[in-house]
Amino acid sequence: MMSAFPKSKSSGLFWLIGLVVVLILCSVLIHPFGPGKRESSPEPLMEGISIDARRHGIIGRSCQNCHSEKTQWPWYSYIARVSWMIESDVSRARSHLNFSRWEGYPTERRLAFLDEISVMISARSTPPWRYLLMHREAKLSNTDIEQVSQWARAERYRLRSTATSSIGRSWSYDSSGVL
Ligand code: HEC
Repeated sequence: MMSAFPKSKSSGLFWLIGLVVVLILCSVLIHPFGPGKRESSPEPLMEGISIDARRHGIIGRSCQNCHSEKTQWPWYSYIARVSWMIESDVSRARSHLNFSRWEGYPTERRLAFLDEISVMISARSTPPWRYLLMHREAKLSNTDIEQVSQWARAERYRLRSTATSSIGRSWSYDSSGVL
C-alpha cells in the first residue's frame, strides 16, 4: 500500500485536482480587501517632497511595498488565503498613508504624517514584524531610524515655512485692494 489515499489512486487525484481548481478560483476571483493589485502608479514616489537619495532609498526599501502604489507582489501574494492577508495589509497601509499620493494631501496632513513617521518607526510599530519575517531587507537599522527621523523633522520645518509664506502671499494679495 503506497497510496496516501486509501480508497483508490484515481479518486485521490480527482480530489487533488478539485482542490487546486478551487484554490485557483478563490485566488483569482475573491479579493475581500479591494482591487489593490490593479492600483499601480508610474509616478515617482513622494512627488513634491524634499529628500536625499539615501533616505529615499530607505523608504523605497522598507515602506514602498505597503505605503504606495509601487507594490511588488511576490508569487505567494497571488495564492488565497495568504493573498488576502497581504492585500489587507497593503490596503490598510495605503488608506493610512500613501506615498504615491503625497502631493494630494493637505499641508496639515503632511505635517502630521511626518511626525507619525518618526513615532511609528522609532517605536518599531511599522513595518509590521510579520512582514519583516519575509522581507529582511526592509528591517530598519538604528542609523536608518535616526536618519529618517532627522529628515522628517527637517521636512516638517521646510513644509511649514513654505506653507506660511504662501499664506502670507495670498493674504497680501487679498488686502491689496485689487479685485
Ligand atoms: C507590510 C506593510 C507595511 C510596511 C512595509 C510599512 N507599513 Fe506602515 N503601516 C502598515 C499598516 C497596515 C498600518 C496601519 C496601522 C495598523 O493597522 O497597524 C501602518 C501605519 C503606518 C503609519 C501611521 C499612519 C496613520 O495615519 O496613523 C505610518 C506613519 C507608517 N505606517 C509609516 C511607515 C513607514 C515610514 C514605513 C517604512 C519604514 C512603513 N510604514 C512600512 C503597514 C506597513
